[in-house]
Amino acid sequence: MNNFPEKTRVLVTGGAGYIGSHVVLALGQAGCDVLTYDNLSTGNRDAVLSGDLVVGDLADRVLLSETLADFRPDAVMHFAASIEVGESVTDPLKYYRNNSVNALNLIEALCQARVGKMIFSSTAAVYGNPEQLPVTEQAALQPINPYGASKMITERFLADLNQARVDFRYVSLRYFNVAGADPGARLGQDYANPTHLITRALKTALGIYPVLQVFGTDYPTADGTCIRDYIHVSDLAQAHLDALRYLNAGHASSVFNCGYGHGFTVNDVVAMAKQVSGVDFPVEQVGRREGDPAELIAGCDKIRQQLGWQPRFDNLETILSTAWEWEKKLVAQAER
Ligand code: UFG
Repeated sequence: MNNFPEKTRVLVTGGAGYIGSHVVLALGQAGCDVLTYDNLSTGNRDAVLSGDLVVGDLADRVLLSETLADFRPDAVMHFAASIEVGESVTDPLKYYRNNSVNALNLIEALCQARVGKMIFSSTAAVYGNPEQLPVTEQAALQPINPYGASKMITERFLADLNQARVDFRYVSLRYFNVAGADPGARLGQDYANPTHLITRALKTALGIYPVLQVFGTDYPTADGTCIRDYIHVSDLAQAHLDALRYLNAGHASSVFNCGYGHGFTVNDVVAMAKQVSGVDFPVEQVGRREGDPAELIAGCDKIRQQLGWQPRFDNLETILSTAWEWEKKLVAQAER
């Protein structure tokens, strides 16, 4: 399933980061030629397990254009971005700079270098508080935080460019809540001051944080905490390979949700983190975090039908246990 008809050359921006590194590994295993372009601001050199790494910033048009001219990719996968909803509320310009302006830089450089295929890391945050759940790709884009807005703007760049140029096609993948780690614990999430729920919970189980805060218990959900559709990072990596195969087959540009179509509350996740780790870590209920929608569940028929995506890790316990193995490995490495 993973073999591409011919060796595809793929430039991966942000390939040293959490999701990008899982995709770089999967592309390498599928026989693609991969080159990572990453400024290592949050990524790690050691996470690039396939192909070479160019340390560079997307704002550096000269290096970007040289890299494209040298490597001559068939397609680009664009992961490099700022990703934290809370930070986007307090520092919005960072998000518009990194996620919109730098993406525009990349897209312009692709046009110049005549690269005709792009796979873009978008987000469920483009939907804001959806009127209907599960939210499908046709839903209105009404982001409620600068993070979602910054990604929505880039989707618009791509859609308009696709209208203007027949030789440019793209797939935008709207990620729901990505979590878990490579099942062989070769890769996982690893950056300073993580804010995501599963990582925070497991690091609290390890004693790295004294307490896990639960942000808001008065949402209109079964237990009052927010509901999210957690998708395993290796299934998400597979979705990128499926999207590349789709573009290679000549299909039209499109947008796909990446999620499993069902969700869990924050309390569900906390209970599973305690079960998987075997640690009854301290939990404190605090007020809502600004910018958080109550519930996000992916409508996922389109990706299954049109990309043939077949997830393998649709299980909260698997997501938590792969992340737990990775977190323990990080601790063991730090102690060495
Ligand atoms: N949460 C806590 N305590 C924490 C961290 C998070 O209670 O310490 C809660 C949040 O308030 C939220 C839920 O756990 O209700 C999930 O929060 P995350 O920070 O893990 O993830 P987000 O839902 O904020 O955002 C993630 C991605 C976005 C993406 C979004 C789409 O970071 O890129 O999922 O569903 F847009």
